[in-house]
Parts: sequence; C-alpha cells; structure tokens
Amino acid sequence: MFLLRPYLRRAHARAEKRWAREVERCVTVDHLRQVMEKRVPPIVREYYRGGADDEITLRDNVEAFRRERFKPRSGVRLESVEMRTEILGHEIALPVIAGPIGSPRMIWPRGEAVAAKAVGEAGTICTLSTLTGTDLEEVRAATGGPCWFQLYLVGGEEVAARGIARAKSAGYSAIVLTIDTAVPGNRAHHEWMGASRAINGTPGQKLAFAPQMLRHLSWLKSYYSDGGMMQFRNVILKDGTPMPYTDIGTQLRASAVTWEHIPWVREHWGDAPIVIKGVQCVEDARLAVEHGADAIVVSNHGGRQLDRVYPTLYMLKEIAPVLKSSSVKILLDGGIRSGADIVIALAHGAHAVLAGRAYTYGLGAGGLTGVSKAFSIMRKEIEDTMRLLGCASIHELRADIHLLSHPFEARP
Ligand SMILES: Cc1cc2nc3c(=O)[nH]c(=O)nc-3n(C[C@H](O)[C@H](O)[C@H](O)COP(=O)(O)O)c2cc1C
Repeated sequence: MFLLRPYLRRAHARAEKRWAREVERCVTVDHLRQVMEKRVPPIVREYYRGGADDEITLRDNVEAFRRERFKPRSGVRLESVEMRTEILGHEIALPVIAGPIGSPRMIWPRGEAVAAKAVGEAGTICTLSTLTGTDLEEVRAATGGPCWFQLYLVGGEEVAARGIARAKSAGYSAIVLTIDTAVPGNRAHHEWMGASRAINGTPGQKLAFAPQMLRHLSWLKSYYSDGGMMQFRNVILKDGTPMPYTDIGTQLRASAVTWEHIPWVREHWGDAPIVIKGVQCVEDARLAVEHGADAIVVSNHGGRQLDRVYPTLYMLKEIAPVLKSSSVKILLDGGIRSGADIVIALAHGAHAVLAGRAYTYGLGAGGLTGVSKAFSIMRKEIEDTMRLLGCASIHELRADIHLLSHPFEARP
C-alpha cells in the first residue's frame, strides 16, 4: 500500500474536485449529510450519524428545536445583522464554534487539520478532540483562528498531563473537559452493523466489509492515501507510542473524568480558561461554577452517551436563568442543524453553540470545501432568520420576544 501512496494521493486530489462540485449544490446541512452518505461506506458513516441505544435523545435533540416557533416583527428593513460575539477573550464572526469530534481522519485525509483551516477561515474557534489522528501542533498551525483542546484522561493522568503541556505550548487557548463519558455509550446500531469486527476482528471478519468499501472507492483511495487506520496521535502512551485505535473502549472505561480532576487540570493548565462539557442539569451547572469553570457546554454528547436524557434545548431553558448573573459563558450543543436552531438557542440564553455533526457532515462530504460550506450555510441561515424576525443583533434575541411561549403542537 505504501508504494501505491503517490497514485492514491493523485486519485484523492481528482476526487476532491468532484465532491466539491456536489458540495457546492448543497443548500442545507442535511444536503451535506446526504453527500457524505454517498461518499463514505455505511460502517464508517454510521459512527458519525448514530447515537446510543434507541437513539431517543439523538432524535429529541433535533426535535426540540423543530418544535419551537418564531414570533417575527414584519415591515422591518435592517441595514445589517450583528452576528459577532466574544467568547472567552476571542471575538468570533458568528456564534458557532466547531465542537470536538473524534477520528475526523477516518472520513477525510488529515481531517482534523483540514477542518481547523476551514473553521479559522469562517472566523471562529475550532475544538480538537483528544481522540484524533493528526498531531495537535499540525492542527493548531493549520488554522488562523483560535483553537481549544478537548481533554479525556485516556491513558491515565501522566499521559493526559503530557497532552495538556503539548496543547499549552502549541497555543491552544482553552481546555474543554468532557465529563459525560464515564463509559463509552452503547452505540447499538453501529455495533449491530459490525463496528467491533471492522476494527478488532480477524482478517476474515474484516474482509466481510470489502464489498461496501469497494462501492465507495473514492473514500477507500483517500483513506489509504492517508495511511489507513489512524492512531491517536494526541495520546502518547508511557512507552512513547501513540494509542492504537483498537484500545479506545477499554481506555475510556478506565479513565472517567470526575469533579475531583478539575483542580488537577487547573494545576497543569494554569490560568487560561477551562470549559466543562457535558453539563446536563442545574445541579451540575452550579458545581461547574463552584469548580471555577469559565464556560459550560450544556451537552448530552449528541445523544451518544446516556439515551433518554433531556434534549439539550430543554436543559438550557432550566440552566440559563440560574447562571444569568454569573460571568460563566453558557454554550450548548446537540441537535444544531441550521441557523434557525442557533437563533433559538441564543434566544433561550446560550452565548454561542457548538456544532458537531453539522460541520462533520461537511468534512465527510468534501473536506475543506464541505466544512466551509457548512459554516456558510449556517451563517446565511442565521442572517436570514434574524432579518425575517426583524432583529438586528444576536445580543438582542430573547425567547419572550422572538419565540412563541408554547411549543407548537401540529394538528392532525
Ligand atoms: C462522531 C462523533 C464523535 C465525537 N467525539 C467527541 C469527542 O471525542 N469528545 C467530545 O467531548 N465530544 C465528542 N462528540 C460530541 C460532540 O462534541 C458534540 O457534543 C455533539 O456532536 C453535539 O451534537 P450534534 O452532533 O447533534 O451537534 C462526538 C460526536 C460525534 C457525532
């Protein structure tokens, strides 16, 4: 395969142009998802699409936004719409941050760096997951914008401390500590499709995936042009080697993050901001503030961890009023698929949102062009929604003014 690498790289470069044309036709984030589904084999695509257990929370996160209804003030012509905002010392061009996504390199060569470049060009913050295949230094260098580093303690505290030190010297400006991953969620559908066999199976079991790989030849060539199965290059184990892809479940189980780790992170990270991700109730929001968090992410991990929890928009409605008088920034993720969703989240008290699947679908559809497209779609949708609402600034959005007070119930 190594000898074929130059050929595969040329093939990927040619295919990139083809996928860019498909991406250009996309009007919504869901169109990007459809293009990604054409390009990437089902067993790979499912990792990005799927959720835990019955996927009730995955669906509810999206549905909660869809049930909200706007209350527009018409007959208004706005010269401009103010979309810029300040988050933890960074002025960002739109209230959307790229959230941490594991293994982007599985869907696009050097996916982490490619996404970071597009996110920087969009004028916002990129968050790199611990569980990634491109060196965090390379990702930092790829973007002109700010970068945050999402931390898991996989490999143990000594290994995590090394990751923190690397992130610090590479110029990452915040640590995002994810607290909702005591064990990996039960991604039942993905497992049923054969996820474990595809990663840890015998050669014979792996061969069973060949037909679907061959039906997605463009992805297959790009995957091998990038070296095939990635390693976790930002988790350098005690023996100095990167953590293999195969170890992830065991490692996550052995390294749950607890509230007691926050002082430890502070000691290693210093005074720069710490963001607590995975806050799902008022009690934990208060604990995050008590532990000195600079921001929280109201998040259920995109419905990939505990199923049947509250959708994040509903959590936000409870948490935002409680934290209103604190200086802690409130971020939300889960279910963001459009600019209208973002406007709704801000109206309910979020300072900005994290996009997860929304930009990852763009990456899987067309790399740099796809991520740029995802951000330009969301940007346009925010602007159009604001103009149609008659609201000139995201800082003026308020649920009691711009939304109906009761979720809409469709009549049969
Ligand atoms: C494929 C995938 C991988 C993810 N990997 C991580 C991760 O490594 N660390 C983390 O904190 N969150 C991770 N998340 C959760 C996201 O950061 C975010 O909370 C979630 O995607 C938000 O939901 P949305 O996709 O509906 O926007 C991942 C989500 C997906 C879909």
